[in-house]
Amino acid sequence: MNAPSKPIDTESFRHVRQPLPHDSGFKHVQGSAQYIDDIREPDGTLHIALGQTPKARGRLVSLDLSAVRATPGVVAVLTIADIPGKNDVSPAFGDDPLFVEKEIAFLGQAVFAVVATSRDIARRAVKLAKMEIEAEAPSITVEDALARGETVLPDYAFGRGDAKAAIAGSPRALEGRFRVGGQEHFYLEGQVALAIPGEDGDVHVYSSTQHPTEVQHVVARVLAIPDAYVTCETRRMGGGFGGKESQATQWAVTAALAARVTGRPCKLRLDRDDDFTLTGKRHDFRCDWHIGFDEDGRIQGYAVEHLARCGYSADLSGGVVDRAMFHSDNAYWMPAVHVGSKRLKTNTVSNTAFRGFGGPQGMLAIEHVMDQIAWATGRDPLDVRYANFYTPGKNLTPFGMEVEETDTLLGLVQTLERTSDYRARRAEIAAFNASSPIMKRGLSLTPVKFGISFTLTHLNQAGALVHVYQDGSVHLNHGGTEMGQGLYIKVAQVVAEEFGIAMERVRITATTTAKVPNTSPTAASAGSDLNGMAARIAAGAIKQRMTAYAAEIYGVPEDQVEFRDDRVFVGNDSLPFAELAKKCVLARVQLSEAGYYKTPKITWDRASATGRPFLYFAYGAACAEVIVDTLTGENRLVRADILHDVGKSLNPAIDIGQIEGGFVQGMGWLTTEELVFGKDGRLLTHAPSTYKIPVASDVPDDFRVALYPNSNREETIYRSKAVGEPPIMLANSVFCALADAVHSLDPAKPAPLDAPATPEAILRACEALRGRSLG
Ligand code: MTE
Ligand code: MOS
Repeated sequence: MNAPSKPIDTESFRHVRQPLPHDSGFKHVQGSAQYIDDIREPDGTLHIALGQTPKARGRLVSLDLSAVRATPGVVAVLTIADIPGKNDVSPAFGDDPLFVEKEIAFLGQAVFAVVATSRDIARRAVKLAKMEIEAEAPSITVEDALARGETVLPDYAFGRGDAKAAIAGSPRALEGRFRVGGQEHFYLEGQVALAIPGEDGDVHVYSSTQHPTEVQHVVARVLAIPDAYVTCETRRMGGGFGGKESQATQWAVTAALAARVTGRPCKLRLDRDDDFTLTGKRHDFRCDWHIGFDEDGRIQGYAVEHLARCGYSADLSGGVVDRAMFHSDNAYWMPAVHVGSKRLKTNTVSNTAFRGFGGPQGMLAIEHVMDQIAWATGRDPLDVRYANFYTPGKNLTPFGMEVEETDTLLGLVQTLERTSDYRARRAEIAAFNASSPIMKRGLSLTPVKFGISFTLTHLNQAGALVHVYQDGSVHLNHGGTEMGQGLYIKVAQVVAEEFGIAMERVRITATTTAKVPNTSPTAASAGSDLNGMAARIAAGAIKQRMTAYAAEIYGVPEDQVEFRDDRVFVGNDSLPFAELAKKCVLARVQLSEAGYYKTPKITWDRASATGRPFLYFAYGAACAEVIVDTLTGENRLVRADILHDVGKSLNPAIDIGQIEGGFVQGMGWLTTEELVFGKDGRLLTHAPSTYKIPVASDVPDDFRVALYPNSNREETIYRSKAVGEPPIMLANSVFCALADAVHSLDPAKPAPLDAPATPEAILRACEALRGRSLG
């Protein structure tokens, strides 16, 4: 591994740390950014629609597709009989069939695919299928799965000491059952893939995926061809949010199979309703908790059992539920702790990655418990949180990793307490509530500590490919994908900085498995940490060769060569970067390099639950104020103050965008987005008509977002910290503020509020505190 050639943190930078706009910002607004559905379709492109099962559980007894096949315009009908390789699109465990073979796992599962000359014909033909099904009662809820004892993966637990005994021996103890809802990704661009068949059975797949390598690999597995015959290309996604980490694969594979069978380009773009019913969501959880504490609210012992509804297959549930477990402590020291989990199998779509990857669920549970302690002790919830923060000496997490950066968390929360004017507003809100029987205000300040690195160690690697051409322009490619988060511009900034050239010289190019192989998904917020470093290493190696050659021709030592302002300064001379590039080509100096990076220090061993799963933690805190109409449940976030730690930012404009977007997305999850499955397993909230995501007018009028001045003590790319996922958990403050408002109705009782705190749920909680029931 080549060391980056520029010492970190000692100089001023021209591109890094600048608030540059997203490279595609103008194109997004103009509509000229090309998404997959915008690619001009090759002549003869066919369109695909999926045949879905109308039952959630049972056996497919017979399938009659004759009327489908006879439909004019239908070119092919694909079933398991057409699969040359394995009928499996799973990321790891072999339990996600492309098409139902016999066992039906959820309502809406794909049974066959129609390939036709138009999408409309394909969709109409699908309806002519005749399916005979021997149906069984499905498992829909956590309780259904518990009753049947069905799981997708084994139970897992870790902890320290005897939590049970510690709780039993505590001055105070509380227990409860907290439910946390799921979340639909609702990326603006739905799932889509276009497959173009090539020579000798090879295929080029354009896929809206966070994981091109997995698409490549699974297309090869299903088609029974070598990986080298498959290329997956992704220029950008119109949002992924984890929903395209493993679950873009099935649609890309279907398109590739259709291309193989028909010999023509084939496109599959899921209709929004199908996207809702066919793809997994954030896992909903039931968290059974038990806590012991003293009169000051200091935790003595905590035991929590995370019962995660995984849907019909394992998918990424192993990692997702592990990450919920890793965040069960959030920012709090627990002398004795037990974190258990069950990965429950239900006859619903297979739940998957969603921003935070389980972390938000585990973290919200302990924030809910913090409020319970505050209500039980009569202390301010912020003081209870302070009383439990990790401090030097009391800094070991339940999974045995030390929290080294305890000062950041405390400094950040104290700063936000001051800048948000928390204490004065607390007093003012109490006075308001005392004289306002119906309208109640609520306030909450909650912290975030989020672990950065994939907990599956081998995923913490990345590659980049950099070419310098003889005109001095630079071709940049890496394994990370762009889903709107600004990864491409950040990595381009790093490369421009390395060469000392203008941003315009760096040409950002689409992610493709043909340029950088064996990549990890763009996930776990690690995109810029990993790919930024790989690109810097590649650019650094080229720059080193250019430096050596420049030193040679000018006869000066290498340390007198400097790249800046689009020029190369060599002793007392200088020449344009482009001119040196040209000279290098003529002198046969290699101007291309593949960079490679792997994250240091991580050593997590899951079997023994020891080691270090994360390189570092990212921190943040938010203070939210809400107002609630306790006779209707209607509510509004009136002010939010956020202070967030991105280390030394690579791009503060992008980072603030991520913080604002993550916060609002989290607020949607916890306040208006509710997934409802019928008893038959049908997703009743399957479109924007029934599923409410936040819109611009939900953003609080008073929204104050700032970056906490910090560095990364680890040697990450320019000492930045990952920013993609952590901000979603800042929205815990909104949930807790709503609970605070509800609680003010009767401070003697806990507010009975689960997540999401929809207006209905809030009204139910208010009525319960008033001793009434809504039924
Ligand atoms: N921001 C936008 N605009 N769109 C997205 O799909 N996905 C989030 C986050 N921010 C997402 C986003 C998720 S789930 C992750 S893991 C990170 O971005 C991935 O990108 P990064 O690793 O480059 O931060
Ligand atoms: Mo993000 S949930 O890790 O794709």
